[in-house]
Amino acid sequence: MALSIREFSRQDTLSIVDLYKRVRSRTMQIVAPLETEDYVIQTADFMSPPRWHIGHTSWFFETVLRAHLQGYKVYSEEYLFYFNSYYEGFGARIERPKRGTKSRPTVKDTVAYREHIDEQMLRFLESLDKLPNSEIVTSLVRLGLEHEMQHQELLVYDIKHQLCDQFAARMKPGPPSSVTVEGMAEIEGGLFWLGYTAPGPTAKDGFESGNYDFAFDNEKPAHQVFLQDFAIDKALVSNGELLEFIRDGGYQNFRWWFSEGWEAVNREKWQAPLYWEQHNGEWLIRDFSGLHPAAGKANEPVSHVSYFEASAFAKWVGKRLPTEAEWEKAACYDSRDAVRKAFPWGKESPDTNHANLFENELWSVAPIGAFPTGASSYGCQQMIGDVWEWTTSDYVPYPGFKSEFDEYNDKWFVNQKVLRGGSFATPQLHIRSTYRNFFHTHERWMVSGFRCAKDI
Ligand SMILES: [Fe+2]
Repeated sequence: MALSIREFSRQDTLSIVDLYKRVRSRTMQIVAPLETEDYVIQTADFMSPPRWHIGHTSWFFETVLRAHLQGYKVYSEEYLFYFNSYYEGFGARIERPKRGTKSRPTVKDTVAYREHIDEQMLRFLESLDKLPNSEIVTSLVRLGLEHEMQHQELLVYDIKHQLCDQFAARMKPGPPSSVTVEGMAEIEGGLFWLGYTAPGPTAKDGFESGNYDFAFDNEKPAHQVFLQDFAIDKALVSNGELLEFIRDGGYQNFRWWFSEGWEAVNREKWQAPLYWEQHNGEWLIRDFSGLHPAAGKANEPVSHVSYFEASAFAKWVGKRLPTEAEWEKAACYDSRDAVRKAFPWGKESPDTNHANLFENELWSVAPIGAFPTGASSYGCQQMIGDVWEWTTSDYVPYPGFKSEFDEYNDKWFVNQKVLRGGSFATPQLHIRSTYRNFFHTHERWMVSGFRCAKDI
């Protein structure tokens, strides 16, 4: 049944209000176990103090209020400076490595700012359908909520870097491995539609887009690419396999590494992934739940590796990393029905049985073989959730790309690699099979892992 425009917009407004409340309260749930002192320190240039995240995500909505709410008065010029991240268009800002050098605004003041923005935003959203440009504003608010979900994941990374097992997160036990996942899936080449298509009558033939109605501009437009036949690992690379690489002297042998990777190994003195520690000759992994022998986590996906480490391992094992198009085909395409599914398992939105995402509350990866119901039609497992997967693809615009928001994605299209699939820190609502995350090749404080591919 077709809805009238008025009914549709009211329904839309209602849902954006609910979404706003839900997403904004999740951020505060994540930081709730922190002590006041934890909110303000910065443990590395690449991370941000939690206080900065809760202010910055509010600052983003303040930019919407400034542009679209008549008579809105800026809360504080000082906050505009401190909470802007990298947007040249929104004025001067504190340098990222200096976010932890200021004790003001205090945590209390930042929370008050956040509450002020929420009050203003909720009042503003209630009257949204009276605005002449309500569609534009709704899409900006939705972008702000997706932005906030990105920062929720960054908060998990940053809290891990700062506190790790000192953080008292409410953690649930993970599911056991229930199936053995071995070998590689062989996938036929040919033309493949890469990227996001909105659900509805305009969806291309063979697209089953599911219920999600949002995608970033960098996932669009869907376009055809040609793939050669290839094979891709059904399982993520495990800690056990990485341990073998270490024991074989992988971190000491230049022949597996790109030149820049080898420089990073020597400069940073890498001997293992981030959060691995050697005690009396044994490798241990520190995570939110404590310090564990790596051998006891041999069947869990490796995480906190850089693109360089993933590439070196792949070379050592006689394989390579997949391209993002190969990854997406392995995740979404069902060759039996010649249909492209929204998620590896079909069109339903992710739940805690399909994949290990933030809502599972594990604060950790799950063992390989713990989510058989989330497998793709090619038998690839844990493509959504657990760890973001490195691909060889450069983060560049798709052909026909149109920027939908200045400086959000468009200015990062250089010198970064694409990662796919989301991690245990990604909210369910935020992930899609077409989602393109991106990081620099040396970075590893995010929850990054990989699976290998090869030519056939
Ligand atoms: Fe941001």
